[in-house]
Amino acid sequence: MLNWIEQRTGFVTMAKDFLTEDVPGGASYWYVFGSATLFAMMVQIVTGIFLTFFYAPSAATAWESTRAIYLNPWTHFLLSVHYWGASAMIALVFLHLLQVLIFGAYKSPRELQWVVGVLLLLVTLVLGLTGYLLPWDMDAYFASQVSLNITGLAPVLGPVLQHIAQGGGSMGTATINRFFGLHVWLMPAVLVLLVGAHLTIFRHNGPAGPVLEDPRTVRKGPFWPDQFFMDGAFSLIVFIIICFLALVAPPYLDQKADPTKFFVPYPAWYFLSLFGLLALVPPEIHLGPLTISLELIATIIGPTIFLLVVLLIPWLDRSRSRGFSSRAGLLWGMTIVVCLIIGLSIFGQATTMSKQASAPASPPESVVLAAQAAPVSAGAPGAISAANAGTMQSNTGSGGAAPAANSNGAKIFASNCATCHGAQGAGVPGSFPPLAGNPVVTGDPNTVIGIVLNGLHGALSVNGQTYNGQMPPWKGTLSNQDIADVITYIRASLGSNHASTVTEAQVKGYKP
Ligand code: HEC
Repeated sequence: MLNWIEQRTGFVTMAKDFLTEDVPGGASYWYVFGSATLFAMMVQIVTGIFLTFFYAPSAATAWESTRAIYLNPWTHFLLSVHYWGASAMIALVFLHLLQVLIFGAYKSPRELQWVVGVLLLLVTLVLGLTGYLLPWDMDAYFASQVSLNITGLAPVLGPVLQHIAQGGGSMGTATINRFFGLHVWLMPAVLVLLVGAHLTIFRHNGPAGPVLEDPRTVRKGPFWPDQFFMDGAFSLIVFIIICFLALVAPPYLDQKADPTKFFVPYPAWYFLSLFGLLALVPPEIHLGPLTISLELIATIIGPTIFLLVVLLIPWLDRSRSRGFSSRAGLLWGMTIVVCLIIGLSIFGQATTMSKQASAPASPPESVVLAAQAAPVSAGAPGAISAANAGTMQSNTGSGGAAPAANSNGAKIFASNCATCHGAQGAGVPGSFPPLAGNPVVTGDPNTVIGIVLNGLHGALSVNGQTYNGQMPPWKGTLSNQDIADVITYIRASLGSNHASTVTEAQVKGYKP
């Protein structure tokens, strides 16, 4: 059987050649990152293909199909593996790159292998960036808006590139289609081609082996079984970690993208350092008559120069030997850059978190997933008319409030409050208090006005249950009239609430 295949394909000899290849200096766990990256890539390709069976790229369906993926435990796991697989792949590419730098494995004759490797890192990052948009939830939308706007900053070609990637003047279905095409076709194709080139060059030159001052003393070890075992064991551990994280920490799906709302986007961890850099520098400085755009330097010029330097490392490092002492400058430079990237990432994380603290909090995922499409995609015409229809009925029962004001109150409630407090005001145990059947809501109007105007946080007890969360302030976001209407709505029309209405004058005259 094997013979039959061998005679027609030569596969057996190929596999033998591959497995009996020499590993200079013997097998080592130092060499596992490359093969583990390849393994993570295959995980991404397999899970990614299956995800396309369930995902529908358009503004009307992207979030909805993602929500459906979340609602089925199997596809939810698939998506979570894809999510953590992406992080694993990027982390492994970085580790692989650092190992090659430390070992000086980029040196002649492996310069082109290094260049292809750096391009692979870039393609991987673009895959991360384009995949980030696809769920089309709040963060996907606002974070991608940041990267698209940065693209637009680039001199000369920037605006054109932004227009092409965005598929027009603003983000919408065309943007999803562009990103989808890049994410599932163009970038994977480029990735596979470059990986092919990377491995072919690798086969041509052979492994670089350990760092020795005198390369003639290196002994040889076979790839099979030692190195093969180490590569396999490490990839298996990576896979177990990915699956574990996918089970215990699946990604969070926020509400559907709504450009009219205020949202503080957070980037994927591998872009945090760039985010931090952007937050660190003022947009521009003035030197006499000269205005220098630091924003442009931080987002485009700086990273481009950095990338060129990294690409040119094999030619910039002129030392003959791969020994550590002859490359001290490069190794120190690498250490400093790694520390800078970590520092900037921490700074980026801290600034994002402090900005988020003062923005309306995202609802828990259970609320996002449970909400029917109508209240969640607030702003869509269907949502509002559905909410209105509900109110018209309850108006008849409540009797007190003027129908016009009350239907405005219902609209405000559906688009601003229902995501947390529930469409019927039932709340969410532990986090968001119910507003229906809540004595505070139907009690002193002035207290309720104060809460809605200024927000509320800290532990709170309603009907014997405690809630602990952040209620955002609405002063400035909603007009006094809207606040009066929504309070009237929650006091007089929600559940069995039948308390008095609230007027704009009462909101205006609020006394703490
Ligand atoms: C981001 C989620 C969120 C949104 C949106 C939100 N709330 Fe709240 N709300 C909360 C949380 C959390 C609390 C409880 C705060 C605490 O634990 O101290 C709360 C408390 C309240 C209370 C006080 C309840 C009590 O028993 O003291 C009222 C009244 C209220 N919200 C009304 C509204 C109205 C009206 C809107 C829309 C204009 C709204 N909320 C939007 C999260 C939210």
